[in-house]
Amino acid sequence: AKDMGTDLKEVLITKEEIDAKLVELAAKIDAEYADKDLLIVGVLKGAVMVMADLARALSTPVTMDWMAVSSYGAGTQSSGVVRILKDLDTDIKGRHVLIVEDIIDSGLTLSWLISNLGSREPASLKVCTLLRKPEAAKVAIDVEWVGFDIPNEFVVGYGLDYAEKYRNLPFVGTLAPHVYGG
Ligand code: PRP
Ligand code: MN
Ligand code: MG
Repeated sequence: AKDMGTDLKEVLITKEEIDAKLVELAAKIDAEYADKDLLIVGVLKGAVMVMADLARALSTPVTMDWMAVSSYGAGTQSSGVVRILKDLDTDIKGRHVLIVEDIIDSGLTLSWLISNLGSREPASLKVCTLLRKPEAAKVAIDVEWVGFDIPNEFVVGYGLDYAEKYRNLPFVGTLAPHVYGG
């Protein structure tokens, strides 16, 4: 049988811990945008789960848009080359925009995205990420809201993939070395 469990080394962050953290982040985001119209932008595909759960944890009414970029392809290393696979449907000029990400690894994807979206003259542009790997950072990024700082290991689940697999795990786990030939 196809058992994703045997490919995992350990559970790093449980579903319950993710849920609690998103409620905590949502309260802060609600406070920040209390008197503003907020557009949240999810970065496909990894941010699907965090967008869906964060949006439902917010009290603030939001509009949602999506951008698809990819820098990883099928490997475990960031290439640093960011491709737009799908652009926003919305003109963000003058809008309050919050980018929602699943993870900041090297930071290359987000640093590129911040300058790309920033050039479209939003009223404000902030970032919320569920995960961040401080030891992997190649560029410094100013991130408003971070769920968890995690060690520099390859993680999957809750939107995060390895070769497009494991995104539907409800928790974040580390991958067993045999899966990626380590
Ligand atoms: C992953 C992840 C982030 C980015 C982080 O996306 O979802 O978007 O990499 O890496 P970085 O900080 O080193 O740039 P990926 O390119 O794998 O596309 P995906 O979301 O479709 O999986
Ligand atoms: Mn991504
Ligand atoms: Mg990926």
